[in-house]
Amino acid sequence: MSWSKERLETVARTRLGGAKLIVVANREPYIHRYRDGEVEWVRPAGGLTAALDPVMQACGGTWVAHGSGDADVEAADAAGRVRVPPDDPRYTLRRLWLDRADEEGYYYGFSNSTLWPLCHQVYQRPVFDLKDWEAYRRVNETFAEAVLQEAEGGPGLVFVQDYHFALLPRLLKAARPDLVVAQFWHIPWPNPETFLVCPWARELLDGMLGNDLLGFQTQYHCNNFFETVDRALECRFDRDQFTVSRAGHETSVRPFPISVDPGLAKEYLGDDWGRRAVAVRKKYRLADRPLLVGVDRVDYTKGIPERLRAVDRLLELHPELKEKFHFLQVGAPSRTHLPAYRDLADEVQALAEKVNWRHGTDRWKPVVFLNEHHTPEDVTVLYRMAAGCVVSSLHDGMNLVAKEFVAARDDERGVLVLSRFTGASKELPDAVLVNPFDADDLANGLYLALTMPAEEQERRVRRMRAQVENNNIFRWAGTLLSEVGKRVPEPAVPAPAPAPEESPAARTDRIERMIAIENYMTAMRLAGG
Ligand code: G6P
Repeated sequence: MSWSKERLETVARTRLGGAKLIVVANREPYIHRYRDGEVEWVRPAGGLTAALDPVMQACGGTWVAHGSGDADVEAADAAGRVRVPPDDPRYTLRRLWLDRADEEGYYYGFSNSTLWPLCHQVYQRPVFDLKDWEAYRRVNETFAEAVLQEAEGGPGLVFVQDYHFALLPRLLKAARPDLVVAQFWHIPWPNPETFLVCPWARELLDGMLGNDLLGFQTQYHCNNFFETVDRALECRFDRDQFTVSRAGHETSVRPFPISVDPGLAKEYLGDDWGRRAVAVRKKYRLADRPLLVGVDRVDYTKGIPERLRAVDRLLELHPELKEKFHFLQVGAPSRTHLPAYRDLADEVQALAEKVNWRHGTDRWKPVVFLNEHHTPEDVTVLYRMAAGCVVSSLHDGMNLVAKEFVAARDDERGVLVLSRFTGASKELPDAVLVNPFDADDLANGLYLALTMPAEEQERRVRRMRAQVENNNIFRWAGTLLSEVGKRVPEPAVPAPAPAPEESPAARTDRIERMIAIENYMTAMRLAGG
C-alpha cells in the first residue's frame, strides 16, 4: 500500500494517541530575516528541513530549533513560539536562542568541525577541542530544558534529528522516563576505528543509548554503530532483534532511508515553469544548449571541485562538445564562518574560472557557478529543464537532491549522474553510478548524460520515479512512527494546553528536572565516560 500525507496523518493520530509530537533539529524550517528594512521568511538550504517539514505539516506538533535569523525574535512570541508555515500555519516552531560562544563551540565547533568530518571520513581532519565539547554539552542541556517545557503536562514523543544532539536523548530520559524518545542520524556512521578516536566517544554513545529507537539511513550504518558500541561500552546486544540494552534500557537500531515529498515538485513548478526556464536561459546566456546541473550546499563532502575537474576532463576527452552544453552549479553558501567552507567556496570559484579560461570561447562559458541561495521553486525549474543532474558526493548519508531531481521529471527524461558513495545510490541503481574520486569515470558519466538516447532515459527515469513515489517521505515518517509509537502510553487525561505564564508548581517541577539533568551530567563526568 502506498504512503500519502493522509495515511501519515491517520498513523500519527492512531499511533500517538493524545501524545504530543516534538521534533528537535538544530536547523529551523523557516527563517525570518530583514531585507531592505522589512521582515521576510525563507526556507533554508539542506535536505533535513525540506524532508521533515511535510511530515510536521501532516502530523502537527512542535519543532524545537535554534532561532538563527536576524528577525526571528521579532517574528516569535515571548516564549520563542511562532506558527508555521508562515503563509499557512499548521504546526508550532519553538525557537531557542544561543549566545555567540555557544553557537561557536556547539554548532561551528563540535557539530561541524568534529562530528561532521568524523562521520563523513572525507579526509578533512576533525577538530577535538575541549571548549567545543563543553559548549556542545551545554547546548544539549539547553535544548533538553526547552523540550521538557514543550512536553509538560502529558505523554509525548520526542523525535530528535541528527548529530547536533547525541547527548539529548539520555538527558530527556533522565528527567522524564515516560517520554518516548527516538533519534534519526541523517549522516553516515563510520566504522569503530574511525569513531573511537574521538576523546568523548563513550559519552556520545551513552547519550544516544537514551533513545528508544535510533534510526540510520542504511543497514551498514546500523552495523557500524553496533560495532562501535560493542567496542566501547558495557552493553547487552541482541543481534537478531538489533537492540542494545544499557543499564536496563533498551534501544532498537534500525535503517529508515529518508526521502522527499514527490508531490512538491509539481507545486514548485506551477503552470509557468516554462516561462521561468526561458528567463534562466536568458539571464545566464545559456541559449538552447543542453544543461547539466548541480545543486548543493558548498560543503567539502559534496565533491564540487571533483565535478569541475570532470567537466575539464570531459572537454579534453571530447573536444567536439565545445559550445555544445553548459554546466550550471548552484552552490548555496553554508557554514561560511568556518575557514574550511570559505576556502572551498574560493576553490570552486577559482576552478570554474580555470575551466572557463581553458575551454571557453567568446560566445560560450562551459561553467556557470551561482554561489547564492536559491528557493526550492527555482531549483525545481533547473531540475526540470536539465539534460542531467550531477550528484558527486564523496560520502553522503542519503542525498535528497538525487531524489528531488527524479521527482521533478514528470516528462520521464533526464539523466541522474550519482556518486556510488551516497545512500541514494542503493535505491537508485538506474542512475549512472560513478566514483567521484576518479575524474575519468565522472567525466564519462557526464558524457553519458549528454548522449543517452531518449528511450533509455525514459526506461531509467520511469523506474527511479516509481522508487521515489513509493519510498517517499511519508513512508519514512510513517514506518518510523509506527515502530516507536507502540511505546507511547495512553494519556490518562487530555493534555492541557501549556500555560502562558509558569505557575509556582510548574517552576518547582522544572527546577527539579534541571537538577536531575545536572546530577546525571555530574555522574557521567565523575564516571569519566
Ligand atoms: C545536512 C545535515 C543537517 C543540516 C543540513 C544543512 O543535511 O544532516 O542536519 O541541517 O546539512 O546544514 P546546516 O548546518 O545549514 O543546518
